[in-house]
Amino acid sequence: MQGKVIEVKDAWREGAHVDDSKYQEMYAASVADPNAFWAEHGKRIDWMTPFSTVKNTSFEPGKVSIKWFEDGKTNVAHNCIDRHLETRGDQTAIIWEGDNPDESKHITYRELHAQVCRMANVLRNRGVGKGDRVTLYMPMIPEAAYAMLACARLGAIHAIVFGGFSPDSLASRIQGCGSKLVITADEGLRGGRKVPLKANVDEAIKRLDADLVDHVIVVRRTGGSVAMEAGRDVYYDEAAEQVTDECPAVAVEAEHPLFILYTSGSTGQPKGVVHTTGGYLVYASMTHEYVFDYREGDVYWCTADVGWVTGHSYIVYGPLANGATTLMFEGIPTYPSTSRFWEVIDKHKVNIFYTAPTAIRSLMGGGEGPVKKTSRASLRVLGSVGEPINPEAWEWYYNVVGDKRCSIVDTWWQTETGGILITPLPGATALKPGSATRPFFGVTPEMVDAEGKVLEGACEGNLCIADSWPGQMRTVYGDHERFEQTYFSTYPGKYFTGDGARRDADGYYWITGRVDDVINVSGHRMGTAEVESSLVAHPKVAEAAVVGYPHNVKGQGIYAYVTLNDGEEGDDALRKELVTWVRKDIGPIASPDLIQFAPGLPKTRSGKIMRRILRKIAEDDFSSLGDTSTLAEPAVVDDLIENRQNRA
Ligand code: PRX
Repeated sequence: MQGKVIEVKDAWREGAHVDDSKYQEMYAASVADPNAFWAEHGKRIDWMTPFSTVKNTSFEPGKVSIKWFEDGKTNVAHNCIDRHLETRGDQTAIIWEGDNPDESKHITYRELHAQVCRMANVLRNRGVGKGDRVTLYMPMIPEAAYAMLACARLGAIHAIVFGGFSPDSLASRIQGCGSKLVITADEGLRGGRKVPLKANVDEAIKRLDADLVDHVIVVRRTGGSVAMEAGRDVYYDEAAEQVTDECPAVAVEAEHPLFILYTSGSTGQPKGVVHTTGGYLVYASMTHEYVFDYREGDVYWCTADVGWVTGHSYIVYGPLANGATTLMFEGIPTYPSTSRFWEVIDKHKVNIFYTAPTAIRSLMGGGEGPVKKTSRASLRVLGSVGEPINPEAWEWYYNVVGDKRCSIVDTWWQTETGGILITPLPGATALKPGSATRPFFGVTPEMVDAEGKVLEGACEGNLCIADSWPGQMRTVYGDHERFEQTYFSTYPGKYFTGDGARRDADGYYWITGRVDDVINVSGHRMGTAEVESSLVAHPKVAEAAVVGYPHNVKGQGIYAYVTLNDGEEGDDALRKELVTWVRKDIGPIASPDLIQFAPGLPKTRSGKIMRRILRKIAEDDFSSLGDTSTLAEPAVVDDLIENRQNRA
């Protein structure tokens, strides 16, 4: 089954960067001689000291090391701002669209330069320099981008924590990377509701060693009153008045870390993914240009939050490195109405729009009306990211949002990959709804079976990448062994993505989802182990097992099996209490959707929980549970089935 094919339209080819034969030619060159290919494309950014070596990478067990352009020096903020000043100083760099539709503003490259320099000086005055970590816990306001670029300007390393994470999650991330300075806002504003960011920072800091965080910089967003600790906390506007708007960009080595971003895995606590400077920026800017077929003058909008990697690579770094106009949206798709996305597209004449399948599915529920009352005539390319897009949502995006006129790019990638790895290119790739299609330049996907045997031709298996690309993560912050263990030990010599996929006879990839204990809820990555450890920390809970199950809007929902301590009664009140507990502990994105109280969990005789069975029951598909004879107590399965919570 190949699925439906939508051929490249003439309109997509017109003026596009590449057509199919150019893609084939460039792809072949990129994998035949990566050194030559990336030596050429490495020049798309400015280097303060040019590189003479290109690729120096090894996936060999015990010796994993990834270096690109390593003897070159550059600065990301210089590339995203200063180098554009002469030619496009008065062009809009950032369009900011507030939560309230009456609030928006345009920031030119020249203004961006002044703002970033000011922010950098405020940081520098507080002792921040090259290699220091700075935690950002920010709403979607321009100051979030200023802060990222200010860190980059100084060679400091930012670690953004998504504003939806709890004080506990924030605390462990501040601790994990040892930030002495935190940048936040008084409150965030989303869908008309306030988010107590500064109060959460205060709570987080209480949980940390008293001498860790020296400074908290507070951007005024709502003007709401917040506690300010003398000597530690300062309002950004007051600090900014004390400094100039000139600050030199520090030349750093290509392999100097640019940022740390915590992400969930199948085991343990989230790990700090480290991305570095040169290769990351080359890859983010190149993918932004080719994947979205970005053209001079385009208005580009990615709806992600800067708290996730998509916001790093495709709201800030990729687009600004390319001198683009990037739109930053503070709000949500349903406020004040479900037409908001489409109204913003008309208001700012957006040409390229990049969002997540979960948003598309939730808006699909409201029918075509809210879309069709807008024009969307400016749109040319529509992107999707974060989770598999089901063909129904794909078709709706294509037919209803894009009026069958726009090209769709279903982009597959990960926090670890830094940029897009598998994707169509608008003028080049025939589309198949539901398929991320073909690899980007320099990307070498390999399909393997459970034993690691490489599969050829059309097949289904686990997705690996055989060789390095410049945007790849370099290490887990402070734990290189965990990096090797997590990504290079399952199939030695290859980067294992954790995703399953199919490859069809045309060589197109169809990502089927995670094959490990990571779940993807509304495009947000969650480790089942994290939710489990939160649940078992509740005084009434003895044991918990968490799995994903198919959810119409979220892609996957969180299904928790909970065994209570002796004498505790499982009822709806306790369900609510547990949901509140997890929300408070990790954040709203980790809230279990369904909780089943279970007197026992299916375990092998050696005590290992059989998740395969739990997944099946959560999917309401228990006709083929497979072999249950190895269970210590086969009877627990009958109880689980009888009391299942998802009756699809
Ligand atoms: O399972 C894949 C899914 O999201 C995972 C990566 O999540 P994260 O690191 O949070 O990054 C999300 C944004 C890049 C992947 O392992 N995923 C991402 N994009 C797609 C996808 N699954 C299918 N199709 C996609 N286009």
